[in-house]
Amino acid sequence: MRHSRLRLPLCLLFTSLSVGAFAANEFTRDSGAPVGDNQNSQTAGADGPVLLQDAHLIEKLQRFDRERIPERVVHARGTGAYGTFEPTADITDLTRAEVFKSGTSTPVFVRFSTVMGYRGSPEQARDPRGFAVKFYTTQGNWDMVGINVPVFFIRDAIKFPDFVHANKPSAVTGVQDPNLAFDFFAHSPEATNMLTHMYSLEGMPDSYRHMNGSAVHAFKFVNAQGEVHYVKFAWKTQQGLHSLEPGQVSESIGKDPNMMTNDLYGAINKGDFPKWDLYVQVLKPSELGQFAFNALDDTKVWTGVAERKVGTMTLNKVPDNYFESTEESAFAPSRLVPGIEASEDRMLQGRLFAYADTQMYRLGANYQQIPVNQPRNKVSNNSQDGAMNSSGRKGEVNYEPSGIAEIPQDPQYKYASTPVSGVTQQLAIKKQANFLQAGEYYRALSSKEKGLLIEALSGDLNHVTNESNKYAMLSYFYKADPDYGTRLAKATHADIKRVDTAAKALAN
Ligand code: HEM
Repeated sequence: MRHSRLRLPLCLLFTSLSVGAFAANEFTRDSGAPVGDNQNSQTAGADGPVLLQDAHLIEKLQRFDRERIPERVVHARGTGAYGTFEPTADITDLTRAEVFKSGTSTPVFVRFSTVMGYRGSPEQARDPRGFAVKFYTTQGNWDMVGINVPVFFIRDAIKFPDFVHANKPSAVTGVQDPNLAFDFFAHSPEATNMLTHMYSLEGMPDSYRHMNGSAVHAFKFVNAQGEVHYVKFAWKTQQGLHSLEPGQVSESIGKDPNMMTNDLYGAINKGDFPKWDLYVQVLKPSELGQFAFNALDDTKVWTGVAERKVGTMTLNKVPDNYFESTEESAFAPSRLVPGIEASEDRMLQGRLFAYADTQMYRLGANYQQIPVNQPRNKVSNNSQDGAMNSSGRKGEVNYEPSGIAEIPQDPQYKYASTPVSGVTQQLAIKKQANFLQAGEYYRALSSKEKGLLIEALSGDLNHVTNESNKYAMLSYFYKADPDYGTRLAKATHADIKRVDTAAKALAN
């Protein structure tokens, strides 16, 4: 029953307060108007229906009905944290990017994630871990949207939707199915290196703090003179690498399916701030051709190229609001700043389009005005309007050229030039070397690590019911390294002669 204001002294106090300033933290509608009762709807008498005129009730239900937005098409399950990045070396000879200027401290927001699971899925998945960093630099936002391993499954963006369809839960059952995933991989030998990383200990970190990161693709550094170098970025954890062994995964999910988030937030909240060092590998354009593989193929690492430490990132704050920070954060490999540009890597080129596109759908055209995505410097251009715009843009000259109020542009920030040649074409890259680095990676593992890789990978291969897909997969691992393939063949009860014949038929 509603209390009568006249009978209750507390309500008299409320009445007297409401005449002047409304007390802070009192319950209001979205319009700011005070709410007298958030527990009982307004009704027609004691037994009658609820009234449509109870605008607070209607608004509360409407807002609730609209709480969900589309989850990310991939990387739906994630965890965010704020922090800072500080450079540790002078690399002005390589890049003009302000974020690497000595003495600077750049605020960052990081989102870690798994790839294929839904928003509430367990965090212990046989999946890459997203490692996306937004640097709020003085010259705009730079997003480094990477993962915890240095390579990827495929090398052309045109295959990405198919790769994701095969690995996400089945279109019929809604459950992930290794049969579908390996049907795709059996026809994508370029995935052999990444699969070897994924099924090794590296592929199952026990905490976001205990893993490395990589931007995977090559990018370009451009210095103040306009000179270009190709660069690969890698994060190395200061906390050490730790992983779950295949036999520990189910128990760990049973204990705490939110283990990665609880670990990260637990550490930050008790002041144990995790840190990663940023390393770069740098090549001159003339050095790209030096490998037995294509240097701009994201299924490969740059073997034998020195790594140079250039900075350290510290995560020190758990966001106050999961939705407004982590869910509404939007990272894009195309979000670059002067001094850092995209390379010609075919996967990266597709990613340059896909992220901002999905974010305009997922969050709306003005998603870069949401505080977590907003640059810390002033935005100044002629883009305007659109749903939920609140940019505060002023002035009627919203076009260019103009003699009245043109926004100046500095030619020093034009894109760097890249020589190109040839005719338009649709051909796979040369020097694919699909199995080379999977073999090198396998041989570098300790004997215990090799055993755990065989255990994890054969566990999933044993679910593959299509014989020809199973033999294709085994032939790829055998081609990478005969010991690797032989042990997998044994663990999956396969005919080693058939594997050997299939492997001999493969191109390098
Ligand atoms: C052509 C290939 C790819 C396409 C088309 C693609 C597309 C996407 C899309 C649409 C999203 C969701 C973004 C959002 O809703 O905000 C996403 C998220 C993500 N992707 Fe990719 N992706 C590709 C390859 C890769 C690769 C190679 C990496 C790692 C190097 C990667 C790392 C990530 C990460 C870390 C996220 C999550 C970002 C976050 O935390 O919000 N993706 N990707």
